[in-house]
Amino acid sequence: MEKGNVIAIDGPSASGKSTVARKVAAALDWLYVDSGAVYRAVAWRVIQNEIDPSDQDAVATHAREIQANFFVESGAVLFEMAGERPGEALRREAVNRAVSPVAANPVVREIVTDWLRGMRELGNLVMEGRDIGSVVFPEAAFKFYLDASPEERARRRHAETQEGLSVDAVGASLQLRDQIDSRRMTAPLTVAKDADIVDSTGMTIDDVVAVILERVRLARET
Ligand code: DC
Repeated sequence: MEKGNVIAIDGPSASGKSTVARKVAAALDWLYVDSGAVYRAVAWRVIQNEIDPSDQDAVATHAREIQANFFVESGAVLFEMAGERPGEALRREAVNRAVSPVAANPVVREIVTDWLRGMRELGNLVMEGRDIGSVVFPEAAFKFYLDASPEERARRRHAETQEGLSVDAVGASLQLRDQIDSRRMTAPLTVAKDADIVDSTGMTIDDVVAVILERVRLARET
């Protein structure tokens, strides 16, 4: 298959998107892209430069100056920002808090959307995010919207974090982020009208992967 095909996997935080998208990409030998990590990296640069994440003009000015370099490594599209690889720093609570206002900034969204679109040059993509099927690649051949109950999502995210927060505290932080992500003016979290909705509550990751791969296989046969 030529490069530049896209499977979009959207959904709220901790809906299982990352693990599912990674496995779908590996099964098809396509490249995995975590678009949230790109927004997190912009938020990380904003914090590092001691800019207030909700100061729209200052964040926009800084975002325009960021030099980002994207490359393929271990089946994924990875990046350097301002010459540095952010690594684990992207998962810190400070970044969790800063990322929603940064991702709601229209200038940041424009810049990141351009970066994400450019990744098609690198190969076929399985990209997870919030607006991949609706805004970044509305023409994507495959669009999935992955969901799970708030309780299940809080449990999953709690199992990933290392900062000693309770499940309830993790749930509250997720809920706040969901609200900002869904209510923002630019590219809010929505179900693309032609997306397949998969509710993963009570399903294993492998069940979800199997559902997606089966739908992709059927679509490619017809
Ligand atoms: O998936 P995540 O939790 O790593 O996403 C981090 C933040 O980035 C989250 O607040 C939503 C935002 N985001 C977005 O607005 N659009 C995307 N395509 C991906 C993430």
